[in-house]
Amino acid sequence: MNTNVWNGGGRRLYLHEVGMRDGLQAECTFVPTEEKIRLVDSLSHAGLAKIEVTAFVSPKAIPALADAQAVMRGIERVPGVVYSALVPNVKGAERAIECGVEELNLVMSASETHNLANLRMTREQSFNALRDVARLAREAQTGVNISLSCSFGCPMEGDVASATVLAWCARFVDGLGATGITLCDTTGMAYPTQVNALTQAFRQRWPDTTLTLHFHNTRGMGLANVLAAIDAGAERFDASLGGIGGCPYAPGATGNVCTEEIVHALELMGYDTGVSLPRLVGASRRLPDLIGHDTPSQIVKAGQRLDLHPLPRDFEAIRERAHARAAAPLAL
Ligand code: COA
Ligand code: ZN
Repeated sequence: MNTNVWNGGGRRLYLHEVGMRDGLQAECTFVPTEEKIRLVDSLSHAGLAKIEVTAFVSPKAIPALADAQAVMRGIERVPGVVYSALVPNVKGAERAIECGVEELNLVMSASETHNLANLRMTREQSFNALRDVARLAREAQTGVNISLSCSFGCPMEGDVASATVLAWCARFVDGLGATGITLCDTTGMAYPTQVNALTQAFRQRWPDTTLTLHFHNTRGMGLANVLAAIDAGAERFDASLGGIGGCPYAPGATGNVCTEEIVHALELMGYDTGVSLPRLVGASRRLPDLIGHDTPSQIVKAGQRLDLHPLPRDFEAIRERAHARAAAPLAL
């Protein structure tokens, strides 16, 4: 891919908001259903390409998302936005399809240990379960995306070989006919050179499959990884409002790359994200009250690059003194 990552040149990139799922699943506070709906509606009007609205998982495993059906039924469907939801099994798929989810995001891990810890199945068992879910989705004419957790490393096993990651992608794309794959850096282990190489390898092998990258900012490499993926031709990224999030089954996990930080940086570089930053930031500012703590968002804390600060109150006096000193003859 012949891109110059430093010059966006108006190139369109697509941001997928995952804060309502990846973000809220890790929160102790239950965000009331009507507030979740309001947030999703705000995000729809902010111009996100896709919104992962919730997860149809066991409410015992993830109580924060126990209201998945009510949220899915309550949101406004803005044309042009794809409304997806995470689904781990057939039961979840049935619940999701029943309330009109447009795309099922099926999840399994490239790491055997993480898959067992997160989904209580071996990878082989997960694959078989997801094959059944994919069949169900096809019958219901619902889209399917596969999110492959720990594609850049497992917090319990260490490195996951890219050959292993690509072999699982092959089973989903070539075997099951999946049209979308998300390579997930579940615990912020990805680094730019690794991201660049894996993105290139994927795109060379499956140029027609929709590829999304999902980074967590656990070690501060989130934006660098996004740029490394763009350099290799990627154009779709998961991100979470306020930078909230983290897998409850991955030790030390923290939030996704923050949507407003990524949009802010990419727009400055000349990319077209289609997202209205003021609307996004407006929604993000509502989060602390809902989840009971501050978010990692640097844009909420510091403002945008050209949000200027007022002059110090005694600025005129400072200026006059400085000018007077400059005009005075040097005392030798
Ligand atoms: N939706 C609602 N309930 C579900 C469900 C789903 N998709 N899948 C399972 N359940 C319920 C079952 O009905 C059963 O309920 P019961 O105890 O009242 O009979 C209970 O959950 C256990 O079901 P079982 O099939 O034995 O699953 P499990 O205990 O092996 O759990 C998962 C497997 C994956 C379904 C569950 O652990 C889960 O939902 N985990 C969440 C994973 C996740 O979201 N991780 C973070 C994102 S990557
Ligand atoms: Zn994640």
